[in-house]
Amino acid sequence: MPERHLDFHPPVIAHRGARNRAPENTLAAFEAARADGVLWIETDVKLTSDGVPILMHDETLDRTTNMRGLVADTMWADMQTCDAGGWFNASFAGERIPTLADALAFSRATGMRFNFELKPCPGRARATAMVALIEAAKLWPESAPPPLISSFDIEALTIAAQLHPGWPRGLLLEEWRDDWREIATRTNATSLHLNAESLTPERLVTLRETHVSTLAYTVNDPARARDLLNAGVCAVFTDNPAEILKAI
Ligand code: G3P
Ligand code: MG
Repeated sequence: MPERHLDFHPPVIAHRGARNRAPENTLAAFEAARADGVLWIETDVKLTSDGVPILMHDETLDRTTNMRGLVADTMWADMQTCDAGGWFNASFAGERIPTLADALAFSRATGMRFNFELKPCPGRARATAMVALIEAAKLWPESAPPPLISSFDIEALTIAAQLHPGWPRGLLLEEWRDDWREIATRTNATSLHLNAESLTPERLVTLRETHVSTLAYTVNDPARARDLLNAGVCAVFTDNPAEILKAI
């Protein structure tokens, strides 16, 4: 696994945008993150039933839109006008579900960098990785620094490595695994994205000694963010970037 090479300046990544003050995974949340002063945004990518890569965390539309049903069962034409903001606050009513292309356009227009987490609906890992990465490459200028791709899904990550070996790729783990190095090597990952709750002081020492680029999610406590960064973590994902930026 390559040693640290990721360029996080400053080392704070807005988790699904600034989701403490705008509806997650929308352009409003990305704009809020930019206003907070972060340079990086993490967002979740999955496919509609007809194969459009969109930004959504859950497998259903229920929690974060005014529609109901599985993302994997819904056509883009049916979901593109739904309200993805009113659930959060009436002032965001009318906010749309962004596509991957919307995020890339936002990135090009603002200079904000993205971590696209491939979050396939069940059984759709291959399709999600292929479609998202092919589309991202088509829309992304070769001269610009590439997005960071990540996934909990081994198949999606493996496909990302095959399609874009030059793009950084993070292996997401929900729980600590003693065989992390073997999985990271097998998937050709360039960074480890670990649940902050699994990061004990001993494990942080191990990670630091092995010089692996480690990112931690989701860290909303400023003191914890500071401790993790001091212990060698190279970036934290947070729902409240403004507060974390102030504290580090
Ligand atoms: O990519 C870090 C983090 O977003 C992973 O967990 O469930 O919030 O997508 P989740
Ligand atoms: Mg995510």
